[in-house]
Amino acid sequence: MKILVTGGTGYIGSHTCVELINSGHEVVIVDNLYNSSLDVLDKIETITGVKPKFYKVDILDKEKLEEVFKENKFDAVIHFAGYKAVGESVAIPLTYYENNIAGSINLYQLMKKYEVRNLVFSSSATVYGDDFEVPFKEEYGLGTTTNPYGTTKKMNEMIITDMDKAEPENSSVLLRYFNPIGAHASGLLGEIPNGIPNNLVPYIAQVVAGQRDFLRVWGNDYDTVDGTGVRDYIHVVDLAKAHVKAIEYAASHKGTEVINIGTGKGYSVMQVLKAYEKACGHDIPYQIMERRPGDIAVCYADTAKAEELLGFKAQYDIDEMCEDSYRFTCNLKK
Ligand code: NAD
Ligand code: WQD
Repeated sequence: MKILVTGGTGYIGSHTCVELINSGHEVVIVDNLYNSSLDVLDKIETITGVKPKFYKVDILDKEKLEEVFKENKFDAVIHFAGYKAVGESVAIPLTYYENNIAGSINLYQLMKKYEVRNLVFSSSATVYGDDFEVPFKEEYGLGTTTNPYGTTKKMNEMIITDMDKAEPENSSVLLRYFNPIGAHASGLLGEIPNGIPNNLVPYIAQVVAGQRDFLRVWGNDYDTVDGTGVRDYIHVVDLAKAHVKAIEYAASHKGTEVINIGTGKGYSVMQVLKAYEKACGHDIPYQIMERRPGDIAVCYADTAKAEELLGFKAQYDIDEMCEDSYRFTCNLKK
């Protein structure tokens, strides 16, 4: 298939492009390079032997985005482009709604105009909010989101569902990612956070790289194995492979499916820290702090639907996730 990948030079998008190319698909990337850089294209070429066609286009610029649709006949779209920082979304909500909602509507309108029926959308476990019991199941539906970023994911899910009802030929898969971490085994692709990282593993990586003094562990009084928060961490390469299965599923079905992508297993902050210590071979300094506002104690996925509909099961364990993250961090310093 010829697939438009918005946000394709970003963290998850770049890994997905590699897996799409490895599976024989043709990839065209649209990205405004707000949170990624052009050298990712060379890295994708080094890994796969293929340099994807690239357009530096902002999805908010509908005219320029339409040029991309005029020049290419797409079979499908995987839509990653968007802003993703939870705290920032609270501070500048309109910017988040504009980019993640208005930008997405531009894309969906062009898909309709150019009759591109198959879509995979990057949703998030954040849409469950803290309304439900773990493991989170797709059938729970949408919970009460706790920040504008999460609300943009929820709104996109609602928009796509309504759009598919009105256009019965459409086929969309809404992937609710849990906590993607890790990097490509080549050490070439990974996550480079902008500023101070909010997420756990990028923060640990910066402590290990000597950029931060210690990890701040947000709370150790939760009702969990050791009191620290538990999450379902998934290797970004597993997540990328899930996208290949999801877009192939979309192309052979109709309607809207919501599918969790996680491992189904939860690890605490301290367990992740220990796995990272094993990967880098030394202790990592940390301090226990107050709970972070908005955090929930435990979050992990029910993965039965991904297995049943997509035949997808995550392969990498937490040790491999930390080893690959560490390898990428070491390469950044070179
Ligand atoms: P990322 O920031 O690395 O990638 C997003 C890409 O989109 C970047 O390359 C950025 O430059 C581009 N972009 C942003 N706004 C754009 C615009 N208006 N026009 C064109 N390009 C634009 O983020 P990621 O971690 O790869 O996340 C990809 C998607 O997955 C996002 O939609 C994110 O919300 C979602 N998601 C991420 C996580 C996570 O923990 N990383 C979890 C759940 C969902
Ligand atoms: C994981 C655990 C923290 C940093 C966020 C978004 C979610 C999704 C994934 C996009 C928690 C603890 C963290 C630190 C810590 N993104 N922690 N010290 O909050 O589960 O999910 O990213 O869709 O929407 O909300 O991920 O990595 O921030 O936190 O102790 O410096 O690590 O308290 O228990 P989270 P996270």
